[in-house]
Amino acid sequence: MLLQGGRSPARSQARRGPGGDLPRQAATLGGRLVTPQEHAAFVRLLKQCPDGPRIELGVFRGATLGLIAKHPGITIGVDSFAGMAAPGKRDTKDGWTPYPLGRLSAPMRDAQRAAPKARLLKGFVPDILPAITESGFAFAHLDMDQYGPTLAALQWVWGRMAPGGVICCDDWFADRDWLAAGAINDFAAGIGRIPETAGRKAWWIA
Ligand SMILES: C[S@@+](CC[C@H](N)C(=O)[O-])C[C@H]1O[C@@H](n2cnc3c(N)ncnc32)[C@H](O)[C@@H]1O
Repeated sequence: MLLQGGRSPARSQARRGPGGDLPRQAATLGGRLVTPQEHAAFVRLLKQCPDGPRIELGVFRGATLGLIAKHPGITIGVDSFAGMAAPGKRDTKDGWTPYPLGRLSAPMRDAQRAAPKARLLKGFVPDILPAITESGFAFAHLDMDQYGPTLAALQWVWGRMAPGGVICCDDWFADRDWLAAGAINDFAAGIGRIPETAGRKAWWIA
C-alpha cells in the first residue's frame, strides 16, 4: 500500500489488483475494493448525473463500467486491454513505479461480459482519443493510474461534458504529485477549480 506521499516502505505488501492504493477499511464496488465512503460517493454521482452518454477511461475487467452502463443511453469503455503504457517521469520515484509497462492487463472479453451494453474501444490514451466522436458526456470516470494518460484524458473530456455532467477520477491524494493524483492536482491548479473529494475519488461538476 502506498502512503499518501507516495513512498512505499512495504512494497511487498502492495495489493496487486486495481485497488493498489487502497486504504485499509475496504468494501467492494462492482467487485472492486473501495472504502464505504468512496462507494457511496460513486453511487451518488451516478444517480445525480444528467441523462446522456457516459464514458470510462480505464476499464480493466469492467467492474465499474458495469455500474456506469446501467442507464438507457450510450456507454463507452476505453482501455488498452494491454495494461499500462511505459511509465513516464511522473510515474516514478527513486527509480521505482507501482505501475510498470503491462500491469493490470485484462482481456477485453471480461469487460464486455461485465458490461454487455457498453461499447468498448481498445487503445492507449491519448492516441485513441481522436477516435471518440461523442461529446456532451453526462458522466466520465477516469481510472488509469498513471500521470500522462490521466492528464490527457482530463484535458480531452473537460470541454466535452454536458452541463451538470460529472467528471470523476480515481486514485486521488491531496499531497501527491505523481501518478494519477499528480495529474488531477495539476489539472485542478490549471483550471483554478478544486475538485470535490471522498477518499480517493475526486470530481468536478461541469
Ligand atoms: C485501475 S484499472 C481500472 C479499474 C476499473 N475502472 C475498475 O474499477 O474495475 C486501470 C486500467 O487502466 C488501463 N490503462 C492504463 N493506462 C492506460 C492508457 N494509457 N490507455 C488505455 N488504458 C490504460 C489498464 O489497462 C487498466 O485496465
